[in-house]
Amino acid sequence: MPTLTLNGTTVAFEPGATILEAARTAGVDIPTLCWYPKLPIVGNCRICLVSVQGQGKLAAACATPATELEWQSRVQWSTLLVRKAARTIRMNA
Ligand code: FES
Repeated sequence: MPTLTLNGTTVAFEPGATILEAARTAGVDIPTLCWYPKLPIVGNCRICLVSVQGQGKLAAACATPATELEWQSRVQWSTLLVRKAARTIRMNA
């Protein structure tokens, strides 16, 4: 089973899962607003932004596939940058 590292914890995920699904499987709650399990994924609100190592921009956890790169993906959702981005989005909603 592929794995990624989420805030320093190794998380196994099913192939095809999103970062959000992988996190929730591991008991990590990433906040969401526009995501709902019975609706198509749109990734519009950006509340679930995460920082993925090697990517220059923050990614929407609900719409980004979890991938196992050679060195393992490193995902952080509680960094200062992510919290500031999420707060800005909430204030402008
Ligand atoms: S929950 Fe809205 S973009 Fe992810």
